[in-house]
Amino acid sequence: MWEKKPFLFLLMATAAILVGTIITMVLPFAWVNTEADRIESVTPYTPLQQEGRDVYISEGCNNCHTQTIRPLVAEVVRYGEYSKSGEFVYDRPFLWGSKRTGPDLARIGGKYPDAWHYQHFDDPQSMIPKSNMPDHDYLRKNMIDPEYVRAKMETLGFPYTEEQISALAGKNQLDAMVAYMQKLGSDIPWRQAAQPLVVGVVSNPFAGDAAAIEAGKTLYDQHCAACHGTEMEGDIGPELTDMGMADEDLYQVLFEGIPDGGMPSLNGQLHQLSQGAVMDWASIAYLGITFGLFAIFVVIVVRTYSKKRKTTLEEPKHRMLEDD
Ligand code: HEC
Ligand code: HEC
Repeated sequence: MWEKKPFLFLLMATAAILVGTIITMVLPFAWVNTEADRIESVTPYTPLQQEGRDVYISEGCNNCHTQTIRPLVAEVVRYGEYSKSGEFVYDRPFLWGSKRTGPDLARIGGKYPDAWHYQHFDDPQSMIPKSNMPDHDYLRKNMIDPEYVRAKMETLGFPYTEEQISALAGKNQLDAMVAYMQKLGSDIPWRQAAQPLVVGVVSNPFAGDAAAIEAGKTLYDQHCAACHGTEMEGDIGPELTDMGMADEDLYQVLFEGIPDGGMPSLNGQLHQLSQGAVMDWASIAYLGITFGLFAIFVVIVVRTYSKKRKTTLEEPKHRMLEDD
């Protein structure tokens, strides 16, 4: 019936689409970045971290890495707690991105010790053999000019102390980059909260099983050798030969890691930790709205199509009448 009133139909369709547009594109500005999103523990970048951030941008790291973890189970299991808007208040510009040649870095802070990062930036393939990340060892040669950083901090209006500025003397861009990496995502204490617990007594069901030992060796090469050496002789982490550690204690160390000592949890490395679905109301509302808009388009398409069919059906009748 509306198809015979094109102007009314046009007005109503426009109004319907406008409602969707306003809900998805205008109203969110009133809902996000409010005081409620502020996170007390999020602090501004120190001059060294800010410098690392600028190097990150100039080196184009954001072409291969994102810095946002979406509230999807797969992402949370792989990278950690999903990103909160309040964590980005000091990011200018944002480096969220959408292209992941390498993994997301939003929660890289505290995942590895500094020494791991230095070695990884020097030569990624020495630690992850199939990595296609380029070497960044040349950043060591670029020294930081404290006066230049001072000017930047003043422009951004970030608080800094003279002590922090003078501490920049003698630091290079690689130091800055590592400091920046360790800051990312570590402002909220998510790592402690995500810590799995070993409950009850654990005993090794595979003691002396040759196949299990072989499989374990492969796992060791992939997940441990970079830090403990190919022959367990020690490198970034301590040597592991002749440990004499009780099975139970070993489980504990591997499962939980030693976060303060820079030993990642095996659980986290193998991405097997299921932390339950995290679906907030915003993503549910977004899904609902998407379906709503989709329904409007379906209605428009069906209307147009049925109108065409009607005219083609009516035409021959009309002509026959004329012929008569
Ligand atoms: C050509 C794409 C590419 C570029 C450019 C690149 N990376 Fe990577 N990056 C990767 C890939 C692939 C991996 C995964 C393999 C590995 O760890 O080396 C990775 C891994 C990493 C990791 C370890 C992540 C983890 O959770 O284990 C860090 C940290 C990192 N990159 C930082 C950087 C920084 C900082 C820059 C800029 C100086 C950069 N990357 C530039 C591709 C890239
Ligand atoms: C990112 C580097 C890194 C990786 C990867 C890593 N470790 Fe460690 N590991 C460390 C560091 C650093 C320590 C020392 C922590 C401390 O004592 O404060 C450590 C400690 C340990 C200890 C305790 C040693 C002791 O004498 O108390 C064991 C056992 C261990 N690692 C085994 C492993 C195994 C097995 C893997 C592979 C699943 C692994 N580590 C992967 C860095 C790493």
